[in-house]
Amino acid sequence: MLFERPEAGRAAVVLHIELDQQQNPDLSEFVELAASAEIDVVETLTARRSAPHPRLFIGAGKAEELRRLVHRHKADLVLVNHEVTPGQQRNLEQTLDCRIITRTELILTIFAARARSHEGQLQVELAQLKHAQTRLVRGWTHLDRQKGGIGMRGAGEKQIELDQRMLSSRIKAAEKRLTQVEKRRKQSRRGRDRRGTPTVVLVGYTNAGKSTLFNRLTNAAVYAEDQLFATLDPTMRRMPIPGLNDVVLTDTVGFVSLLPHALIEAFKATLEEVVYADLLLHVVDAADNRAEEHIAQVREVLREIGADKVPEQVVLNKVDLVTGHNSLDCALGGTPLKVSALTGQGMDALLKGVGDTLGVAAPHEAILPAQDGGTRAWLYRSGAVLGERCLADGRLLLTLQADEYLLGQLSKKPRVELRVQGALPKISNGSAAL
Ligand code: GTP
Repeated sequence: MLFERPEAGRAAVVLHIELDQQQNPDLSEFVELAASAEIDVVETLTARRSAPHPRLFIGAGKAEELRRLVHRHKADLVLVNHEVTPGQQRNLEQTLDCRIITRTELILTIFAARARSHEGQLQVELAQLKHAQTRLVRGWTHLDRQKGGIGMRGAGEKQIELDQRMLSSRIKAAEKRLTQVEKRRKQSRRGRDRRGTPTVVLVGYTNAGKSTLFNRLTNAAVYAEDQLFATLDPTMRRMPIPGLNDVVLTDTVGFVSLLPHALIEAFKATLEEVVYADLLLHVVDAADNRAEEHIAQVREVLREIGADKVPEQVVLNKVDLVTGHNSLDCALGGTPLKVSALTGQGMDALLKGVGDTLGVAAPHEAILPAQDGGTRAWLYRSGAVLGERCLADGRLLLTLQADEYLLGQLSKKPRVELRVQGALPKISNGSAAL
């Protein structure tokens, strides 16, 4: 790997510029990203400009201010919350005598540390190589004296080794391996399509709780931790929904605002799972006071990758942390599902919601009193009966594949017990377990 995990505790000054007439990346998100990469942000310098300065990105006065800050804090890095050109990056590094990490580089570093699957690792590696290719047009010998670390390892000392030819051949090799992995992914998707297996995909702003929910819904042990981007690779597992066969649940990489295009490109294959999904569960951290903004940012990324037509169900997660009235409810309209992936609250409603949306009515079980021949005949006439057996006490247990209307009618009969097949909670009528 060209990029390394940052050494914990590295001190950085953040440079954030508001450019006029542009969508500027969010500053607090960037600081969170730095924390997620275990970098200590010791100071933040902000400025406003009508356009980037061609040579240094910022003006000479600001650059001097920044240099003094770096010196005062003995900072190891300057994190720039923008994309700067390779030339600007190099000039700024020379002026400050300090390593510069751009927004894309920081996100790539985090992605690299979080990649779990082979495919994810390959995708990050490829994105890093391509990024390095743009930065290694000319030598970076001005950094020779500096130690390696976050960003491009050996941008100084290993420069000679990282020539264009070497990069090109590594890019080719990574692309070849990735094509093979992608082929397998496509085959597996085609297989699922043929079998008519519905796919549900978890999307959401980073740290919303997707992995935790994924684990809860699939009982899988996936890496979840309180850092941004705990998930990188879409992980697929079977999600048991009472009465449904094979629903595949896919976990995806956490979205951030203004996800750099290079990264969207790199993760295109995995993001394809989102485009082909039957349902998106848009997981939102309901306890985050910027939840509304995050929802908009996720939808923007969905639009960019062409997934804005896929049915979306908002799932407000972390409701265990929300006390009192939540303004999100009003803002969202409709009836978002409220859950806590941590405590398990709201899971039954979520599963039912998924089943309903996918349009597959779960098989139910009804217990009829021994003498209720009328109801039995009515159910047979409706064509809903899948099976029948007699219980020890003489009552009849019928397995049904019925629509909402028929189930509603049945649930009104006081002496009939009704529940989803295989579901633990009873859904209506009486309390006796079978
Ligand atoms: P990325 O991989 O960065 O996109 O994160 P994610 O959306 O997969 O989030 P993850 O599941 O890693 O959860 C982030 C943090 O939130 C972890 O510390 C979880 O324990 C916590 N968390 C998740 N769900 C809940 C919840 O319902 N309640 C509470 N209190 N914490 C939760």
